[in-house]
Amino acid sequence: MALITPSAHLADVRYEIRGALTRRARELEAEGLDIIKLNIGNPGRYGFTAPEHLRGAIASHLQESEAYGHEQGLELAREAIATQQRARGARHVEVERIFIGNGVSELIDISLRALLQPGDEVLLPSPDYPLWSAATILNGGQPRYYRCAASQGHHPDPDEIEALITPRTRALVLINPNNPTGAVYPRELLQQLVAIAARHQLLLLSDEIYDEILYDGATFQPLAEVAGDVPCLTFGGLSKVHRACGYRVGWMSLSGAPIRTTAYRDALQLLAALRLCANVTAQWAVVPALQDAPTIGALTTPGGRLHEARRAVLESVAASDHLDLVTPQGALYAFPRVRGEHFATFDDNAFALRLLEEESVLVVPGTSFNVPGSHHFRITLLPPPAQLREVFTRIERVLSGMAREERQPRNVAMA
Ligand SMILES: Cc1ncc(COP(=O)(O)O)c(C=O)c1O
Repeated sequence: MALITPSAHLADVRYEIRGALTRRARELEAEGLDIIKLNIGNPGRYGFTAPEHLRGAIASHLQESEAYGHEQGLELAREAIATQQRARGARHVEVERIFIGNGVSELIDISLRALLQPGDEVLLPSPDYPLWSAATILNGGQPRYYRCAASQGHHPDPDEIEALITPRTRALVLINPNNPTGAVYPRELLQQLVAIAARHQLLLLSDEIYDEILYDGATFQPLAEVAGDVPCLTFGGLSKVHRACGYRVGWMSLSGAPIRTTAYRDALQLLAALRLCANVTAQWAVVPALQDAPTIGALTTPGGRLHEARRAVLESVAASDHLDLVTPQGALYAFPRVRGEHFATFDDNAFALRLLEEESVLVVPGTSFNVPGSHHFRITLLPPPAQLREVFTRIERVLSGMAREERQPRNVAMA
C-alpha cells in the first residue's frame, strides 16, 4: 500500500503556538476541564471587540464585495496605508508599492517567496515569531538567528548581526514591537541596523503589526523612516491594534529607492495575482481604521484592560520566588524567565506540559520561538487581570513543586 507522504520541505517547519500542547489542552477540555489558554494573541477570544465603525464600514459595503478585487488590494485602502506610511516618514511609498493580504501571515510568505533562491539566508531574531522561520524554510531559505537576550533587554546586538552575514544573506527581519518579548527598539539601534543593511545590500523586513500597542510612554519608531532610501518592506494590519484577527487583513508597504526594487515589486505583484486577491469584504475596514480616531490608547493607558493586565503580570513576577521578566514595552505578551538557581536543568516543554496537566494553564514554551535551551515561556496579556494573577499563583505552585523535587527527587519524596 503506497502511503501519501508529506513534502520533505515540511521537515523543519514548526508552529508550536498551535501545536502538541494545544492539542492536549483540547483533549482535556473535551474531558470537561476548564483550561486557561494563554497561548494565542487573539483579542476576540478574550472579550475584546473590533471598533464599531470598522464593523459598520464592512456591513455597508457588503454588496460591493462580491467580485474579485485588485490583486494588491482596494485602491482606497491602499491610499490610506500609503498616507499613513508617508506621514511616518517612509520614502517613495505609492499605492503600487502597497500589498494587502489575508493577514500579515500571507504576506510574510509572499515577501520571502518573491525574494529567496534555494540556500539564501535570512537574518531572524531569536526568539522570533515562528512563522518567519517557517516561511523562510518553506521558501528554500535558511534562517540565521541573531540573539535578543533577556540580559540585553531583548534588544539585538548589531555587531552580532553583522558577524552572521555571508554572501548568501538576503534580508534582515525585525519584529518591533516584538512578539514574544515586548521589546520596543530605540531609534539609535534601528539606525545601526539600517547601516548594516545598507553596507551588505540587504532587504529590510519590518514586522510592525503591534505598532500602536505601547505601554508607559514607550515610543515606536517606524523602520522605514530611518531606512530612507534603503529598501524596506513594512508590515501592518488589523489583527492586533484594531482587535480584528478574524477579518484577516494585513498589508505590506515597500519603501526606499524604487530603482533598486522594481523587479522585486513586480515579483510581489505576480504572486499576489496568482492568488487573485485578498478577502475583499474586510478591506473596507482599513480606511476607518487608519483615518478615524485611534481606539487602542483606551486599553493601553492606566485603567485600560491591557495596561492593568500587564501590571498584574509585573506584580506577580516581582512576587515570585522563581521568575524574572524584562518589562514588555509593547505588543500583547510577556516572556518571563524561570531563574536558574533552583534548577540544575530546566526543560521548558516539560514545565509547560506539567502546568497544563496539573493546573489547567496553557502557555507557550520559549523553545517554540527558536531559542534553544530556553528558560522562558510566553503568555498573552489578553485575559482579565484577576485571571492573570490566578495563573501566576498556579505557575508558582508548579515551579515550587519542581524545585522541591530537584532537591529531593519525586520517588524519594514519596517513599
Ligand atoms: C509578529 C507577528 N507577525 C504577524 C502575525 C500574523 O498576523 P495576521 O493576523 O495579520 O496574519 C502575528 C500574529 O500573532 C504576529 O505576532
